[in-house]
Amino acid sequence: MIKSFGNKIKVAVFISGRGTNLKNLFYFSKKKNSKIQICIVISNKKYAKGLSFAKKNNINFEIYTFKDQLKDELKVLQILKRKNIKIICLAGFMKILSREFIKRFKGKIINIHPSLLPKYKGLNTHDRVIKNKEKYSGCTVHYVTSKLDSGKIILQKKVKIFKNDSAKSLQKRVLEQEHKIYPKALKMIIN
Ligand code: GRF
Repeated sequence: MIKSFGNKIKVAVFISGRGTNLKNLFYFSKKKNSKIQICIVISNKKYAKGLSFAKKNNINFEIYTFKDQLKDELKVLQILKRKNIKIICLAGFMKILSREFIKRFKGKIINIHPSLLPKYKGLNTHDRVIKNKEKYSGCTVHYVTSKLDSGKIILQKKVKIFKNDSAKSLQKRVLEQEHKIYPKALKMIIN
């Protein structure tokens, strides 16, 4: 549980691409009675589409390539400390954070993954799910630990797979559910 003490909890969102989850979390943060405020977006990609959204909506953002991961993580940690960030939401962030970084934010980094974890960790989940003729897929919000896609599950949503589904059509329906469960999961861990 992350305590708000009556104030808004400061959140950082890490992205690498499209940024639909960022957008969704931002709108959620703007709702009446919301307990969170998105104070910064960190992207490892200069041209991430999500950054255009951040710009348009006056959300602070920083770009760090993470090519020199140790150096960039230290810089990011400084920013997060300066801004008093209490939760990190990974939203399509394609870098694996170091054990040291995760330790510094223990229990305060969460991620959204497009599968029913512990099944289908890693990349290209929808392709693999279709290839394996699964009946269901879904999405999961979980705590981040140093083991990829393996931390404690906060919330999950099942999505039925139709006979004629492609990876693309499935990802679209899973994404709709991602947008529902990410804010819900945040609510669940904040007091
Ligand atoms: C989502 O499918 C999320 O589950 C995965 O990366 C994708 C990010 O999408 N981790 P977006 O950038 O939030 O649109």
